Amino acid sequence: MAAPAFDSSRAYKAWEVNGKFFGDGRKVALLEYVYSHPELEQMRGDPKRICQAIDAFGRTQTGLINIGESKGAVVCDLIAQCRPSTMLELGGYVGYSAILFGDALRRAGGQRYFSVEKSPLFAAVAASLIDLAGLRDAVRVVVGTGAEGIRRLHDEGMLGPQLGMAFFDHHKPSYTADLKLCERLGLIGKGTVLVADNMIIPGNPEYAGYVRASVAEKRERDKGEQEKGNSDLQYASRSVTSYEPSGQEDAIEITECLGTAS
Ligand SMILES: C[S@@+](CC[C@H](N)C(=O)[O-])C[C@H]1O[C@@H](n2cnc3c(N)ncnc32)[C@H](O)[C@@H]1O
Repeated sequence: MAAPAFDSSRAYKAWEVNGKFFGDGRKVALLEYVYSHPELEQMRGDPKRICQAIDAFGRTQTGLINIGESKGAVVCDLIAQCRPSTMLELGGYVGYSAILFGDALRRAGGQRYFSVEKSPLFAAVAASLIDLAGLRDAVRVVVGTGAEGIRRLHDEGMLGPQLGMAFFDHHKPSYTADLKLCERLGLIGKGTVLVADNMIIPGNPEYAGYVRASVAEKRERDKGEQEKGNSDLQYASRSVTSYEPSGQEDAIEITECLGTAS
């Protein structure tokens, strides 16, 4: 189904500033922007208003690489429909998706949202905004790579017995490896829903190929693999087209685990 047209008046500024996406102080500028907002007191404890403030920063100050309103709405609808108890996010950035989806999860009766972020600076910004949004009890930020976060949370018994939903939005070549790690740890089972961002920009043919492959194809491919997943898991996967906050067309891959093939 075609996505509704993008409202260009809502477009973020360009992500790239003088050849940089990161490391130019924009995260600290975002914190200063939010905490000096004239309506800060009314924004406290209101996830929607915190996301709106982040969106306003992206539109008027510097572009940010968060999921944004269009794709974000698709995932919020999915959370309301699937009602996961536990959701794992890989790639937290400054906390936009953790606030948006952590709020959606809480509204749907879910328990915990875990956001794994490699950069300690981004994670600190995210934790501050999550706290401001009143989501401290529902959303936990974990500093580390996707694989480190998965292992640590699994060892702590936080992700089991299986994940309700997982959101892949980190290092693109790690999507498949980190999904296979979740499979090996037994975290994926019937009813687990996987959401993967940036399937057009920049694209992730390896991941799309993996979640769309049949069990027979995966078993065959696994023969030569060092880091195997659980090739017996059956998935049903579809692409949903939507927009980056810049207005560029992108897609997310939504995948449901149907269980294990005999
Ligand atoms: C596109 S941003 C995430 C946006 C965020 N999900 C949102 O919508 O608000 C990607 C993030 O992944 C982080 N990252 C990159 N490689 C990673 C890895 N291997 N493990 C965890 N995080 C990683 C980056 O530091 C960056 O903050």
